Amino acid sequence: MNYLVIKLGGSIISRLPDLFFQNIAELKEKYGCCPVIVHGGGPKINEALEQKKTEIIFHDGLRVSTPEVVETAEMILSGHYNKKIAAKLYQAGGRAFGFSGVDGACMEAEPVKPDGSIGNVGKITKVDGQLIELLCRKGYIPVISPISIGQNGTVYNVNADTAAGAVASALHANIIFVSDIPGVMNRHISSTHVYSRLTASETASLIEEEIITGGMIPKVQAALSCLQENVKETVILNGFDSNSLFTYASGGECGTKIMKEEVTYA
Ligand SMILES: Nc1ncnc2c1ncn2[C@@H]1O[C@H](COP(=O)(O)OP(=O)(O)OP(=O)(O)O)[C@@H](O)[C@H]1O
Ligand SMILES: [Mg+2]
Repeated sequence: MNYLVIKLGGSIISRLPDLFFQNIAELKEKYGCCPVIVHGGGPKINEALEQKKTEIIFHDGLRVSTPEVVETAEMILSGHYNKKIAAKLYQAGGRAFGFSGVDGACMEAEPVKPDGSIGNVGKITKVDGQLIELLCRKGYIPVISPISIGQNGTVYNVNADTAAGAVASALHANIIFVSDIPGVMNRHISSTHVYSRLTASETASLIEEEIITGGMIPKVQAALSCLQENVKETVILNGFDSNSLFTYASGGECGTKIMKEEVTYA
């Protein structure tokens, strides 16, 4: 089966046009590929932590996750956003099935930093693709929250870009990262400059020069690391543009394509 992993950023979910959800629901019929959603939920997790007066700390775009932070992230991701997306897709004519990496232990994780310096932030060690494949075969759209489980039962907060990259690698699928920006931008060039393509080395330089910062760091890193595995194509797309999904699916140029190799421009 031909899959397309669609990572929906928490930055955009509640502002994503209805037509975008409709396009996801029609992707299989129109383009023959099964959408698999992995989602984030950053802004609402921040809101919930602020309400609890819990300190919000990020390290290179990763949220420092005490057990209390993980519990809040799980509530917002696996509860609020997961079901919101499932309902939006149903409204758009699709049948979505929401779950997290904890369910069926379909995504196993271990700590990113075993020294505990960023708490229970996980990296995915194993994705069990069977459930995803079964759901797609039966016509459901899997909607996956990135919260995952360790072998000893510890629940890990996994960055949604990282989780989406791991799912794409397991399914040998292409991946698109849908966010609240038109792609990777360079404000030093102009306030609207978007790179149409970036290679691994160009991306590394932009991180070094602090042009790529915050949440864009784990996004480009997830893109680059899944390109090292089974993924052929990774693109960062604008969620405000309801045509961007179909433009991408029909082979058109949109957003920023992250490439493994150096490309030769004609
Ligand atoms: N060079 C850059 N080009 C574009 N955006 C950038 C760049 N550097 C940093 N960013 C920031 O990255 C953000 C996108 O990452 P962020 O993690 O905030 O959102 P998301 O991944 O879509 O949502 P979530 O993390 O909740 O899933 C943009 O809103 C922007 O502020
Ligand atoms: Mg993010």
